[in-house]
Amino acid sequence: MTTTGHAFGIDIGGSGMKAAPVDLATGELVSERYRIDTPQPATPEAMAEVVIELVRHHGWTGSVGCAFPAVVRNGIVGSAANIDESWLRVDADRIFTEALGQQVHMINDADAAGLAEVRFGPEAARHGVVMMLTFGTGIGSGLFIDGTLVPNTELGHLELDGPDAELRAAASARKRDDLTWEQWGKRVHHYLEHVEALFSPDLFIIGGGASKRPERWLDQVDISTEIVVASMANNAGIVGAALIAP
Ligand code: BGC
Repeated sequence: MTTTGHAFGIDIGGSGMKAAPVDLATGELVSERYRIDTPQPATPEAMAEVVIELVRHHGWTGSVGCAFPAVVRNGIVGSAANIDESWLRVDADRIFTEALGQQVHMINDADAAGLAEVRFGPEAARHGVVMMLTFGTGIGSGLFIDGTLVPNTELGHLELDGPDAELRAAASARKRDDLTWEQWGKRVHHYLEHVEALFSPDLFIIGGGASKRPERWLDQVDISTEIVVASMANNAGIVGAALIAP
């Protein structure tokens, strides 16, 4: 099945792989998203099997856009923080396209989420220096200048007080370190304050799993830059992936 005006998006995360067809005029999912646990180890072969299952589940026969938790340049994977190391330097566009028999194009997951917000989110997302940050297994970043993406910024790996910031401030760190929402919110505050000092953005857009319940922690964040929660919360990756389907 393909429908004019719809495209198919998959969001690959450290814990789950989620997919749905998307209405490109509105950014809405046109059928319920389907989620499968990310296979462990998350090798190219194991993930390709899940991609096939997700696409077949929806009966989609057209091309596919795929948001991926790593640096992706022209389809080639350039980092492997939260995925299996066997992905490094792999042509992910080619592997998934060949496995599925349908064209697949890949993009970094936070870049995808940001594209979705820039297209379908608040007006402010389209102007000035806008920083999308996703808090999930890692911290993803998508930097936009007047709506144009600067891809693969990887600001979750900024070193802060020693280690990479995402080790302390990603949503996964809250569970791993058994923190209250307040304690975790303070870590996010510290991280955002640092990114703010380095980039002076006009707007932060906060997405990822932690954006589903911002009332639990966002009041710990006290910076001068305006902050909005991703308008499509945790679906931004799927929608952004659909936007880049070939
Ligand atoms: C990866 C990024 C990704 C982020 C969120 C980081 O560990 O290096 O590429 O965007 O996690 O998934």
